[in-house]
Amino acid sequence: MLQKNKIPLSLTPVLLTLSFCETAAFLHQTSFDFPWSKESFEALVSLPATVGWIDEKALLVCSKVADEMEILTLCVDPCFRRMGLAEKFLDYLFRYADEQGVHRLFLEVSVQNTAARNLYDKKGFRQIGQRKNYYKTKTGFCDAVCMEKTF
Ligand SMILES: CC(C)(COP(=O)(O)OP(=O)(O)OC[C@H]1O[C@@H](n2cnc3c(N)ncnc32)[C@H](O)[C@@H]1OP(=O)(O)O)[C@@H](O)C(=O)NCCC(=O)NCCS
Repeated sequence: MLQKNKIPLSLTPVLLTLSFCETAAFLHQTSFDFPWSKESFEALVSLPATVGWIDEKALLVCSKVADEMEILTLCVDPCFRRMGLAEKFLDYLFRYADEQGVHRLFLEVSVQNTAARNLYDKKGFRQIGQRKNYYKTKTGFCDAVCMEKTF
């Protein structure tokens, strides 16, 4: 059973490292139908391109290649949603992107995910495309919207 017990209570996100992968997997399973395992997070975090932030309630993982970054996953514990945590994590990302000279952020989000689409709209992302049947759902497949934010 995955535990959420390794990170001291704090309001400041920390960089996602190998020691936080169990908590990352715990948070992921609170938010997705097909969550990533602790081992998947460990493999991801071991890649030099991966950068992420985590606290006890939220998680954001990205990949950085040259001056572009892609958001790989973002989730907030259901008990702590609509409190601005996702916005806070995206602001961390924007600050990091600015410091690292990143010029473009990219992501995919399910067309059915109103909460996330509203979040990304609010944070200045714009739709640049759509991918057919990109996500597996419990009942079939659904399309993804591709979004970008440029600096
Ligand atoms: C999407 C998600 C990360 C938002 O996290 P959150 O911390 O609740 O979001 P915030 O409180 O920072 O909200 C910021 C904005 O997002 C939008 N938003 C967030 N939740 C929403 C909801 N349930 N319905 C509509 N809009 C929503 C709103 O525009 C909101 O701004 P507002 O509060 O001024 O209206 C969270 O719902 C989640 O973890 N969902 C499951 C995992 C997921 O879908 N991840 C995204 C995959 S790409």
